[in-house]
Amino acid sequence: MSDQDDGLRLFITDILILFSIGFLSVQFFKFVSWSYIYIRASTLPRYLPPQKKVPNWSLVTGATDGVGLALAHELALHRNSSVIIHGRNPTKLATVASSIRSQLPPNSPIRIETVAADVVEPIAASRTIATFLEGKNIRISLLVNCVGGTVMFGRRYDGLDEISEEAATGIINLNTVFPAMLTRAVKPRLARPACIINLGSYAGTAGFPFLSFYAASKSFNMTFSTSLNREMHALNQDIEVLGVVLGSVRTESSGLITRDASGKVGLEYPAFFIPTPEDMANAILARVGCGRHVVVGYLGHALQAIPMEWLPNALTEVMAMEATLRRWKAERKGE
Ligand SMILES: *[C@@H]1O[C@H](CO)[C@@H](O)[C@H](O)[C@H]1NC(C)=O
Ligand SMILES: *[C@@H]1O[C@H](CO)[C@@H](O)[C@H](O)[C@H]1NC(C)=O
Ligand SMILES: *[C@@H]1O[C@H](CO)[C@@H](O)[C@H](O)[C@H]1NC(C)=O
Repeated sequence: MSDQDDGLRLFITDILILFSIGFLSVQFFKFVSWSYIYIRASTLPRYLPPQKKVPNWSLVTGATDGVGLALAHELALHRNSSVIIHGRNPTKLATVASSIRSQLPPNSPIRIETVAADVVEPIAASRTIATFLEGKNIRISLLVNCVGGTVMFGRRYDGLDEISEEAATGIINLNTVFPAMLTRAVKPRLARPACIINLGSYAGTAGFPFLSFYAASKSFNMTFSTSLNREMHALNQDIEVLGVVLGSVRTESSGLITRDASGKVGLEYPAFFIPTPEDMANAILARVGCGRHVVVGYLGHALQAIPMEWLPNALTEVMAMEATLRRWKAERKGE
């Protein structure tokens, strides 16, 4: 063996060691900055100062159910914000509003308003809401685009040959046209500083069979948030736009709540990974000011997403497939 060979071997070893140290440092740094997202304090009080005589306003769309409803409660009862609740059904809206009002202390300065608009007509609905704000001369400090989903169009999982035109366009309107048009219409009514939160779904980041329209409409969302956040920054508008990605939440419509023969309620997988709407609402508000354009809101969901990013492609293929194929089949069995 010549000295030259030894020299070469040493050189390669050095390179490998340096490369490993570099790689591990980058991963470590990524891990630290990722962890920081979930432990840092929220900057929500910047938009909704808690001790104000006249509380600042939030607007939550789709706030008669699930996460939207939990957000409306949390904002009014624990974050000292006046809240405008949007929903489709005026009766349901009135019930939700009076329930929140009844839990406020007497003489509370917090106001609860409702606005009904059917998002099946997304442009008309966004105009209705903007006109409402103008009529009441309200400026919004926090807008949460929360209405979304697919359940209102019948089955949850539909293949390309199964889905009706009505359901397909409905899902796209609900998850893309409505929030985009609403954000556009409400912009002139935003206070400064203001925050816009767009809720998205994990389905929009991965891609799942039998959920194509839903998943694609959800990914519109996240690019929209990123672009707008940069635009507001470029224009020096004091408006933060944050896309929050949601995984499964413990709602009746999630399909993850099971009931055995005796009616006992169970969950399809460990509770930590399926937050209640209240926990989810708190997690969303906790991420405000985290500095990302798009963030997985709840820690349990973020942990669930890690394997999808780190596992080899072949495995993520199987996982994405399994996740919905099984449920698609189950849904058909019951028919
Ligand atoms: C909401 O509070 C902020 C303080 O952070 C204030 O600057 C802003 O003008 C308020 N918005 C409205 C509509 O009063
Ligand atoms: C909300 O505001 C009231 C006064 O209007 C104050 O007494 C209360 O502590 C505030 N709540 C929070 C969470 O800051
Ligand atoms: C993103 O999806 C949610 C559904 O959770 C929708 O209501 C939200 O408004 C959408 N946002 C944008 C900007 O598309």
